[in-house]
Amino acid sequence: MPEFQTDVAIVGAGPAGLMLAHLLHNAGIDSVVIDNRSHDEIAHTHRAGILEAGSVRMLESAGVESRVHTEGHRHDGIDIRVNGTSHSFHFPDLIGDSVWLYPQNEIFVDLAAARARTGRPTYFSVTDTHLGDIESERPWVNATTAEGEDLQINARYIVGADGSRGPCRAMIPADTKQRFFHEYPFAWFGILCEAPPSHEVLIYSRSERGFALISQRSSDIQRMYFQTSPDTDVDVWTDEQIWAELQARVDGPDGFVLKTGPIIDKTVLPFRSAVTEPMQHGSLFLAGDSAHTVPPTGAKGLNLAFADVSVLAPALISALQGTGAEALAGYSQTATKRVWKAQNFSYQMTRMLHTDPSQDAFETKRSLGELNSILDSEHGRRYLAECYTGWPNG
Ligand code: PHB
Repeated sequence: MPEFQTDVAIVGAGPAGLMLAHLLHNAGIDSVVIDNRSHDEIAHTHRAGILEAGSVRMLESAGVESRVHTEGHRHDGIDIRVNGTSHSFHFPDLIGDSVWLYPQNEIFVDLAAARARTGRPTYFSVTDTHLGDIESERPWVNATTAEGEDLQINARYIVGADGSRGPCRAMIPADTKQRFFHEYPFAWFGILCEAPPSHEVLIYSRSERGFALISQRSSDIQRMYFQTSPDTDVDVWTDEQIWAELQARVDGPDGFVLKTGPIIDKTVLPFRSAVTEPMQHGSLFLAGDSAHTVPPTGAKGLNLAFADVSVLAPALISALQGTGAEALAGYSQTATKRVWKAQNFSYQMTRMLHTDPSQDAFETKRSLGELNSILDSEHGRRYLAECYTGWPNG
């Protein structure tokens, strides 16, 4: 049976877990990574595709050999469309930075390949994950491997990078943690289609029929979303109905027309905001979605996971190398500051761009006032550009 004595047991081989493993390895710190999903399942799960410049710099400086520069695309702005009129944001002019369009599942593939090159163990498709003794200096993680063997990992620290439904968060005793939660009365209907891009930049559209986002993947595959009710059954929607709904939400006096094509994937994405604090208990540290969830409107999910890791990795390294444990003790406080900025931005983008079926007419008018306060002001546009491209660390 595989048995390990390691520095850090990492539960979750998504971008947060694998990026952490990579940074630790670069500093000579050992880790074992496990995930209950298979490599292919993670590689084929569609998530948001916008990387902050800081996330790209992290991939570069860590030496991940990501294909972000060869297969991703730099985006210097977005359009915000309000009832058919577009407002362009040019990020380099507004804030001196850009973002990159590169799907999260491709980042996972790059990170998994980088992990494999280190020769250090990653176990996919494990079952029965348990962890214990997190209040001691010898916590452990047990699981059953895909081959049915018992896996035993003894570590100095455990990192829960196991997503919103993983087992780690539940290990923090209820009387020492708080869960902050906000639910929205809508969801996104997401499609992938075979079509050329409809526009150079992403379009976030507010319309009387609700929100739509015209995103991209490559020269021949596009990603688009429209606001829908959370109980939508994607199978009752025909391609024609989907295209008519998307087009209706971007219609305007400029005559903008979406480029259409066969729809190859349809899903409903739930909408939630949640934060667990503190992001640590004893020897267990949470990173990414295990501690917080944002609605996809601000494209912050993966970027926030990387930001957690950029605080956690150096803190673990200095604690394990004996050069100081203060940063580790302060991890939750440092990380949650940015988490709440991202929560605010994601909430604000959501509220300004969606129509809420349960809201009164006052709120509909007020949120349009909020959006116009940003669109009509140089300061407001710089504020939005800064939030979208990502805040400096700290
Ligand atoms: C995406 O391309 O999937 C995407 C882009 C921007 C968002 C959300 C999702 O805000």
